[in-house]
Parts: sequence; C-alpha cells; structure tokens
Amino acid sequence: MPQITIPSANITFECDEHDTVLRAGLRAGLGMPYECNVGSCGNCRIEVLSGEVVHERENPPGWNERDKARNRYLGCQARPTGDCTIKVPMRQEYKSQFLPVRTTGKLVAIEDITHDIREFRFALAAPNGFLPGQYALLGVPGVAGGRAYSMANAGEPGQWDFQIRRVPGGEVTSVLFDKLQVGDEVGLDGPYGMAYFRDESPRDLLCMAGGSGLSPMISIARAFAASTMSPERKLHFIYGGRTPRDICGESILKTLPGFGTRIFYHCAISDTAHADSAGWTGRTGFVPDLAVELFEGKIAEMEIYFAGPPPMADAIMKMAITHKAPAAQLHFDKFY
Ligand SMILES: Cc1cc2nc3c(=O)[nH]c(=O)nc-3n(C[C@H](O)[C@H](O)[C@H](O)COP(=O)(O)OP(=O)(O)OC[C@H]3O[C@@H](n4cnc5c(N)ncnc54)[C@H](O)[C@@H]3O)c2cc1C
Ligand code: FES
Repeated sequence: MPQITIPSANITFECDEHDTVLRAGLRAGLGMPYECNVGSCGNCRIEVLSGEVVHERENPPGWNERDKARNRYLGCQARPTGDCTIKVPMRQEYKSQFLPVRTTGKLVAIEDITHDIREFRFALAAPNGFLPGQYALLGVPGVAGGRAYSMANAGEPGQWDFQIRRVPGGEVTSVLFDKLQVGDEVGLDGPYGMAYFRDESPRDLLCMAGGSGLSPMISIARAFAASTMSPERKLHFIYGGRTPRDICGESILKTLPGFGTRIFYHCAISDTAHADSAGWTGRTGFVPDLAVELFEGKIAEMEIYFAGPPPMADAIMKMAITHKAPAAQLHFDKFY
C-alpha cells in the first residue's frame, strides 16, 4: 500500500489506491486542512515533493493553472500511484474527533419534508459517531465520485439521516429520489466537516439555512435541545425559501424540548411576487436581511452556524463580518 510521508511533521501514513491523500490522513488521525471534500473549495491543497498522484475528479473546480505549475494538488481528490512525499500545513483543529470510516448504509426509511426535500435514513454496516453539523460522502452505483450530505440527526452511531434536496437533472439526487428503495445500499464515508456544534460556548446560537442547508442546522438544533450545558442559552433558527411551499423546518423543531422558550423559528420567502399570489402573510426577503432585522446589535455576540448554496453562504458571511462577528464564531459549510 502506498506510503505518504510529510517530512515537516515527521509523519508517514498509508493510503490505499482507492483512497485520497486527505481522507487517508484524516483516517490516520492527522489534522489536515479541508472543507468541501469534493474538489470545489481548494482548501485542501498539498504540494507533491516526490512520487505521483492522480485526481479522482478530472479537473476539479478548486484546482487551477498555478497549482499545476507548482505541483500542487487537491488532497481530497489526489490518489497516490505509489509512495509520495508531500508538503501540507498541518493544523490540529482539523483532526477528527470521530475518525472517518468507509462503510455502507442500508436505506431504512424515506420521508418527504417539502415538494423537493426528502429525508433518507440509513443504517450503517459499521456504526460510527459524528458531531452534530458534520457531513458524509455518499456514493451510488454508476455515478463517479461521492457527494457530500450533512446528517440531520444528532450523532447516533448506528443510523445516519440525511435531508436532501432534489437537483433537477442531478446525477446522485436522481438516483436517490427516483431509483433507491428501502433495503438498498449506498456507500458512506465519514464523518467530515468543521461546521459542528460547539456545545462548550455559552453564547446564543444563530442557525441559518436556505434550501438544501436544512439538514445540518436541524442536527445542531437537536443536539442543542438535548444539551444540559448553559441552559440559559437560546437558539434562533432562520430558514429561507423562494416560495411558500419551500418553507420547512418548524414542524421538526416543534418536537424538541424547549421550542418556544429557548428554541425559536423564523422564516422568510424571497420571491415577493409569489408572496402576494399565494396569500403569504409571513416575512419576505433573504436570510441575512432577516437576521439583521431580528438581531441587529447582537450578531457579534452570537455563535453563528449556516449552510446552503454558495451565494447564500457568501451573503451571510458578508452580513456577519459587517456586524463585527469574530471569525472564530462563524461555522459554515458551502454546499458546492
Ligand atoms: C459539505 C457539503 C454538504 C452538503 N450537504 C447537503 C445536504 O445536507 N443536503 C443537500 O441536499 N445537499 C447537500 N450538499 C450538496 C450535494 O453534495 C450535491 O452537490 C447535490 O445534491 C447535487 O448532487 P447531484 O449529483 O444530484 O447533482 P450533479 O449536478 O450531478 O452534481 C453536482 C455536484 O456534485 C459534485 N461533483 C460532480 N462531479 C463530481 C465528482 N466526480 N466527484 C465528486 N463530486 C462531484 C460537484 O461539486 C457538484 O456540486 C452538500 C455539499 C457540500 C459540499
Ligand atoms: S476540500 Fe478539497 S477542494 Fe474542498
């Protein structure tokens, strides 16, 4: 099996030919930087000093001409063809509390949440815990590359639940929505991700999501509801959709202890033309604008979690920075 050596850290670990340098490093308990795990963000760059790697995903969006010229690759996509020596900035905070494991999940239940979001529940062949807010890579037969999906439950090792939005024409979501049946198996690899619930923080939580970003925010809310740390803390959940039929999440939060006293739900739709014709009497606008409307002057004191499509995540980030929220209080995943 290929050996990967990081001379600056005096470390060597094994990476089999079906694994990538980043994932094998995380499995070995190392702290290597990353974010998306699917070749899009570019945060997992490694420099190959000797040996050869090939990218799992051909021309991943996070890899550019400058990287090629400098022998830099994306650790999440780089498979070694033999022993390699690499340079990578090791960072302790990326070390996984639950080491990622490759296993399979058997579909045990499916439940509709909206017209295009569905919860898929999988029983794991090799149970593994996760931190609320983390994600896994899910692979289906016939489609190259796993897709990242965040778990919606709060860390139960034997079953991982995913709330997934159908992407029209999407390769993996088409299989999940149109072909997969209870009893079928998928590949699962995880947990991954840094946007997990920091239970030790005494600050109020602001959880924001739009569209497919529902799942990790629900996971964090579930863990928050079960936590006995800092009982005076509050969690504010803001969900944004385009039209009334996209709005969801409240019925799930209502089942949690503390809903209405320490857990609060707010939502808005962004398509104002639709609001009038559908008789919508709730708020209109975008998630970050609603956050400012509700929490102006308090945002910098909150622990802020968000997930969703990159334009929404960027707008929330901009809002949080404008309102002087420290970077250490921002925890997010962009759903590339
Ligand atoms: C950290 C993270 C967490 C996410 N969590 C959720 C969630 O909880 N719920 C949800 O609905 N969506 C989530 N997503 C989005 C999800 O991963 C998919 O992008 C989406 O479901 C579309 O997949 P598709 O195959 O149906 O669409 P397609 O259009 O076929 O695939 C598009 C996506 O797949 C990726 N991709 C394409 N080819 C490859 C390849 N060879 N290898 C790896 N990746 C490839 C691209 O990044 C692209 O965004 C998350 C994304 C990220 C990065
Ligand atoms: S973690 Fe590798 S490109 Fe995002």
